[in-house]
Amino acid sequence: MKTMFWKENKLFLIDQTRLPDEFTYFECKTYKDVIHAIKTMKVRGAPAIGVAAAFGMALAELAGENLEKTANEIKSTRPTAVNLFWAVDRVTNSNSALEEALKMYGEDVKTNKAIGKNGSVIIDDGDTILTHCNAGALACVEYGTALGVVRAAAEDGKRINVICDETRPLCQGARLSVWEMQQEGIPVRLIVDSSAGYLMQKGEVDKVVIGADRVAKGGVANKIGSLMVALAAKRFNVPFYVAAPKSTFDYENSIYDVEIEERDSREVLYFGDCRVAPEETEVKNPAFDIVPSDIISGIITEDGILKPL
Ligand code: MRU
Repeated sequence: MKTMFWKENKLFLIDQTRLPDEFTYFECKTYKDVIHAIKTMKVRGAPAIGVAAAFGMALAELAGENLEKTANEIKSTRPTAVNLFWAVDRVTNSNSALEEALKMYGEDVKTNKAIGKNGSVIIDDGDTILTHCNAGALACVEYGTALGVVRAAAEDGKRINVICDETRPLCQGARLSVWEMQQEGIPVRLIVDSSAGYLMQKGEVDKVVIGADRVAKGGVANKIGSLMVALAAKRFNVPFYVAAPKSTFDYENSIYDVEIEERDSREVLYFGDCRVAPEETEVKNPAFDIVPSDIISGIITEDGILKPL
């Protein structure tokens, strides 16, 4: 399953806001459509955002738009995942946006398979692996990073059980990771986010593997809730791994200087279409948090398992 594909000068993205109930594609004819898809999270997950952004640049190039202006507009869609900036800069410095985007599309799959292969080494037969959010095929072009490690371990014949945090507020764990594991036939259970610590305390989790939006000096930014999972893992001696491609590494900034996206209060006030708090409630809704380097066991990349920065 590919999260996106390019056909007849258009980009087609699986509309992730409709999963798991509906499997439909959102058609992007212009770079503005790509911007809309990223902002509304029809496409999400750091590597997928990066490749979609590259195709957005290709659409702008085909339409004869001003590429510098387009690059700035695309970069302003979401601030935290560094892949977006990496992808737009890479395309900007190339001779052909479309050729470069197609190259990145192919590389993404190879990179994830390498991450999976390198990560499978840390997974034992019979392991229960807890993951947060969705760092699966849907967050990339195909295969996934954290769920790529799970896939590779399963392909190596290891019997794996997966626990997915639901990942409030938008429930990428419940809607997307559970769905992916079910498609794959890998045993999966869903928990509310606040169960993770208790299950680790009871010895029911062997390893945690999550993805990353940015790896930088001092730690890793990933979906809100990752920090609490990491702290519990540290307390109960559960190895805590991050799986991420090198395109998610930012060697220039401290992780504490990175802008953490603040999203709409509606995401917290409502559960789907159902309001769960009084209308006028003031909300704080950071989309990501930071796991400090010293509580990360290793970063699983296409080049091997690395120490955090
Ligand atoms: O807000 P999202 O759904 O884009 O957040 C996604 C995550 O936090 C993922 O864990 C991260 O991008 C890694 S995806 C391989």
